Amino acid sequence: MTNPNLEPCFNWRGRYEEDHTPWDLGGAHPGLVDWMRENPANGRAALVPGCGRGHDALALSQAGWRVDALDIVDLAGETLGDSYTQIGSRFLVTNALDFDPEGSLGQGAYDLVYEHTIFCAISHEQREIFGANLARCVKPGGLLLSLLFPTNKPSDEGGPPFRATPDELATALGESFELLEDEAWVPTSGGRRWAERRLVFLRR
Ligand SMILES: C[S@@+](CC[C@H](N)C(=O)[O-])C[C@H]1O[C@@H](n2cnc3c(N)ncnc32)[C@H](O)[C@@H]1O
Repeated sequence: MTNPNLEPCFNWRGRYEEDHTPWDLGGAHPGLVDWMRENPANGRAALVPGCGRGHDALALSQAGWRVDALDIVDLAGETLGDSYTQIGSRFLVTNALDFDPEGSLGQGAYDLVYEHTIFCAISHEQREIFGANLARCVKPGGLLLSLLFPTNKPSDEGGPPFRATPDELATALGESFELLEDEAWVPTSGGRRWAERRLVFLRR
């Protein structure tokens, strides 16, 4: 039986079927590209939950990360072609709320988990579950990189995207994570409707 606490709050599949995916930047987020310049992969393993069409996952993979990109919708990963899998990275159709890094799909806990518009796609009621699962996915000493959005959206406007502030993300992650960096992100390419920040957390 499916667990109602783990059900997505939105018809994501419908958006891919209609090809109506306004969140898709068409390429890797510049905040990730900048971060990768200062953080060499050295063959480490990264997890990209809610990867969508996978532009960020592909960029991480091309930079030398062993990437598992996951999405609850199979159609999301259709654009990730051979160039992605040939370098050892994978697209997995699974739920980020109960993905088990030690289970049959996972490759053990990851050195990096990259959050880009997946936290804001999770309902407020499910954020604690999401945060607890991220703690299972990141190795002690590993990092969570978040391009957090939309930090200044009025909460009464609902979602997705649901408002996501640094405090809200820190609360969802709990005591297992320590905030190392929090900086405002100024979009260089048109940007999104609401503000973004780039945060780095250390898994204790
Ligand atoms: C706003 S989109 C962001 C996609 C991608 N990160 C990007 O920035 O282009 C949110 C994505 O998360 C996926 N998603 C939503 N809930 C999910 C869940 N519980 N587990 C895995 N993927 C989920 C959706 O299918 C969608 O592709």
